[in-house]
Amino acid sequence: MHVYNFKENPIFFGRRKGRKLSKSSKLAFEKGKKYFIQKKDLNKILDYKKQIILEIGFGNGDNLINSAKINSDFFYIGSDPFLNTTTQCLGKIAKHNIKNVMIWPDDVRKILDLFPKDSISEIKLLFPDPWPKRKHKSRRLIQNDFLEIIYLIIKPKGTITIATDHDKLKCWILDKFQRNGKFEWIAQSSKDWETRPNDCFQTKYELKSTLLKRKPSWFVFKKM
Ligand SMILES: C[S@@+](CC[C@H](N)C(=O)[O-])C[C@H]1O[C@@H](n2cnc3c(N)ncnc32)[C@H](O)[C@@H]1O
Repeated sequence: MHVYNFKENPIFFGRRKGRKLSKSSKLAFEKGKKYFIQKKDLNKILDYKKQIILEIGFGNGDNLINSAKINSDFFYIGSDPFLNTTTQCLGKIAKHNIKNVMIWPDDVRKILDLFPKDSISEIKLLFPDPWPKRKHKSRRLIQNDFLEIIYLIIKPKGTITIATDHDKLKCWILDKFQRNGKFEWIAQSSKDWETRPNDCFQTKYELKSTLLKRKPSWFVFKKM
């Protein structure tokens, strides 16, 4: 395991809870705890022979669940601290009896440095919170230290796919990756960032964005 720590403990500014959970949701959450990944398992993950895909901020699990269903040879780890949608996702994992997914129900930054070097094949980050106000830009997930650590844990030629419909965040992402210099943006033409990649499913947030006639972009960066 490599040693890397964020300069400060990550401070999470998003919501952990929304509406009070119904009785059945509370039950689904309790039952779903068996899908939670433990920190101690993460540094052993290299023993796992399959490709590992990490989805950060899976929301209600549309992309995570559909991807895991069709790629039974891959192993998926989803991270999201928001209790209500995590409960929905746990319900779907149980309903479809999905065996190749585990969940970290918390801020992903708390576990990134526990992954072994070169252990993750792909990272998906679909519609991260944009934190649009200038004074809140330090809350955005994509920061220099975040890119440094994902560079360490992604396999050589592994990718990170980031979707957003927020113009300021689009520029922020491209700027951060360009300054980092350790990833290649693999787009050949505008079609490549204007079209959802084949290995991503429509998410709730994308649907909302499309209904509002916003223009999502998908950026795929490859570790050099
Ligand atoms: C705008 S929503 C998008 C959800 C989903 N990906 C979609 O496209 O519908 C952003 C999600 O990222 C999650 N999130 C925010 N900060 C996070 C963090 N530090 N680690 C993991 N997930 C995070 C939020 O809880 C929320 O579910």
